[in-house]
Amino acid sequence: MASLSILVTTMMMILGLITASDNNHVYSPCTDTQVQISDGFTFGIAFASSNFFGNANKSQLSPCDRRLDLPNKNSQLALFRPKVDEISLLTINTSSFSPDAYGGYMVAFAGRKYAARSPPAFVANGSYTVTSFTLVLEFKKGRLQNLYWKRDGCSKCSGNSNFVCLNKQDCAIKTNNCKNHQGTVDCSLGIQVAFSGTDKHLSSLNSWYEVENLRQYSLYGLYSNLKGSLTGQYNKIF
Ligand SMILES: *[C@@H]1O[C@H](CO)[C@@H](O)[C@H](O)[C@H]1NC(C)=O
Ligand SMILES: *[C@@H]1O[C@H](CO)[C@@H](O)[C@H](O)[C@H]1NC(C)=O
Ligand SMILES: *[C@@H]1O[C@H](CO)[C@@H](O)[C@H](O)[C@H]1NC(C)=O
Repeated sequence: MASLSILVTTMMMILGLITASDNNHVYSPCTDTQVQISDGFTFGIAFASSNFFGNANKSQLSPCDRRLDLPNKNSQLALFRPKVDEISLLTINTSSFSPDAYGGYMVAFAGRKYAARSPPAFVANGSYTVTSFTLVLEFKKGRLQNLYWKRDGCSKCSGNSNFVCLNKQDCAIKTNNCKNHQGTVDCSLGIQVAFSGTDKHLSSLNSWYEVENLRQYSLYGLYSNLKGSLTGQYNKIF
């Protein structure tokens, strides 16, 4: 009995620690928040045709803005909650979801009054699919200011005949090689997320600099559960 109660106390302490490290209670991507290092931060990624992300004025709106009316258009939404200032690899499994069937572009977004949204990034069409992305979330005093896609040219795929380099910035695979198009490659999307700027205590967020320094290595190798599915397969298959 005594040992059982000790175990219970220990577990409660561990749970207490876990909740103490994430003090951000905002779980909706369409609500404003101010974060500190080790909080969770919720943001969304919306998939649609690139012209659905702007209105008649050609101004670029957040998917949280009702004027875009994305829920009534051909679109899909994914939500993520990485930890502030940690490098995370987010994945979107495409075994039952073909990005090209939903317009082929994506934007990352969060916030309402302080809404921020990335530019649309090409993901897939009937010819090509891009599977690897780097997204930087930039904060100022803990408020999201900006989301942007970072590209490093086509260094990762230059000289690899399984890939084509699109617009001198994205390594892409032929869509008909993807499993969701009767091919053999798992074209799940991998989104490397990193943070820059300052948190609400003005501590600086450094994970973006770490990603930049690590770039010379294949970051996917760090995520052992994905190693086989996202990278190795390209070389095996063709
Ligand atoms: C176009 O822009 C004007 C001025 O910013 C704004 O008042 C109007 O509501 C916008 N139109 C649409 C369809 O959003
Ligand atoms: C995606 O889901 C399928 C089916 O559940 C699974 O076989 C595959 O390994 C998953 N891919 C990744 C990258 O997790
Ligand atoms: C897909 O996109 C690429 C790059 O923008 C373009 O060259 C190609 O024609 C497109 N294919 C289709 C079927 O839309």
